[in-house]
Amino acid sequence: MKTKAAILWEPHTDYLVDEIELDPPKQGEALVEFHACGMCHSDEHLVTGDMALPPEITAMLGWQQYPIICGHEGAGIVVEVGPGVDTLAVGDHVVTSFVPSCGRCPSCVTGHSNLCDLGAGLLAGTQLDGTFRHHTKDGKDLALMCCLGAFAHHSVLNQASLVKIPEDIPLDKAALVACGVTTGWGSATYAADVQPGETVVVVGTGGVGMNAVQGAALAGARYVIAVDPVEFKREQAQLFGATHAVASLMDASGLLAELTWGQNANKVIVTTGEGKGEDLAMIMGLVSKGGRCVYTSVANMNATDVQLNLFDLAMQQKQLVGTLFGSSNPRYDIPRLLGLYQSGKLKLDELITNTYTLDEINQGYQDMRDGKNIRGVLVYK
Ligand SMILES: NC(=O)c1ccc[n+]([C@@H]2O[C@H](COP(=O)([O-])OP(=O)(O)OC[C@H]3O[C@@H](n4cnc5c(N)ncnc54)[C@H](O)[C@@H]3O)[C@@H](O)[C@H]2O)c1
Ligand SMILES: [Zn+2]
Ligand SMILES: [Zn+2]
Repeated sequence: MKTKAAILWEPHTDYLVDEIELDPPKQGEALVEFHACGMCHSDEHLVTGDMALPPEITAMLGWQQYPIICGHEGAGIVVEVGPGVDTLAVGDHVVTSFVPSCGRCPSCVTGHSNLCDLGAGLLAGTQLDGTFRHHTKDGKDLALMCCLGAFAHHSVLNQASLVKIPEDIPLDKAALVACGVTTGWGSATYAADVQPGETVVVVGTGGVGMNAVQGAALAGARYVIAVDPVEFKREQAQLFGATHAVASLMDASGLLAELTWGQNANKVIVTTGEGKGEDLAMIMGLVSKGGRCVYTSVANMNATDVQLNLFDLAMQQKQLVGTLFGSSNPRYDIPRLLGLYQSGKLKLDELITNTYTLDEINQGYQDMRDGKNIRGVLVYK
């Protein structure tokens, strides 16, 4: 069939919206009509090249990174299922999971399905079976980000990448839980394990960080300090449960000294748009003895330099942990978070600052870069 997609042909260029050819679903796959897709900062790393592998590596692995259809915060309706699909039916409302889960690998069976072994193929560009479903009008294969391709009106995805959701939840709101909400919330409640009465700092309160703020507040943190250079983000953070909002790490340090009598933050969660190794020493300086820093931001995948005071790390027994998808189990946590939304305990409507059509995708990303959106959402229907 023909559908419409935003194609990123190479780093440092705009998306080009064009008609594409989409193959029918194969074994275990479904055709999904997307209604909405959030514009997460992770797609942007393919634009900046931070997530681009050297061409000799992709050639050696047989992977294709560009041209690519990004978009991993999608929500839509199943319109066709291929052979062997046993978890979904036509008409089901679904959101994407940017890590597929097989339900059988060691990570899945021990409750860490965000680390499912199927994740090994996330940068390959193909569907999980190693072949392409998406092609340009003249037959060139199009890669997919995380096997999804939700910057398109339709895609063909494996059932392992789709989570069924209740039909009464508006799909533009549901899309947010496909990545940003679950990642931010889980960074606070799972990875940081925020406890009642703790002091939490969230560094970078965009589409992911705002949900770390919500998660920390609902987990019972006493102080939730949002750090963001953008005034609009600092104002908004207070609606999501931040008790304080400051513009810089330096300001956070001064505030923590005052609020905690020099004990600092039990938990610091890093959700800036781009991870930068040179900021780490300062960030770890905000962590209390015995405290934990959770690193959620995506950094340049080839960068290895960080600044870190190793004396302080050991002598103050601090922890530094990474998290993928907020250490969540998407098939459990996505419906759970939507349940909290239905009960009025999780804000989703307020996360959407602006909506755009697929043709307006470049404007949407410019607004993200300019700090205008908590989350911008592409709405197709
Ligand atoms: N680990 C994961 O599984 C995972 C999942 C989703 C997103 N991410 C990553 O999380 C990060 C955040 O994504 P997002 O969609 O919320 O991005 P975003 O652009 O919506 O928000 C980033 C925020 O960081 C702020 N910021 C930038 N520099 C800062 C600094 N030095 N100090 C404090 N704040 C600063 C910006 O003003 C913005 O509000 C990205 O790197 C994204 O790729 C990781
Ligand atoms: Zn698995
Ligand atoms: Zn994301």
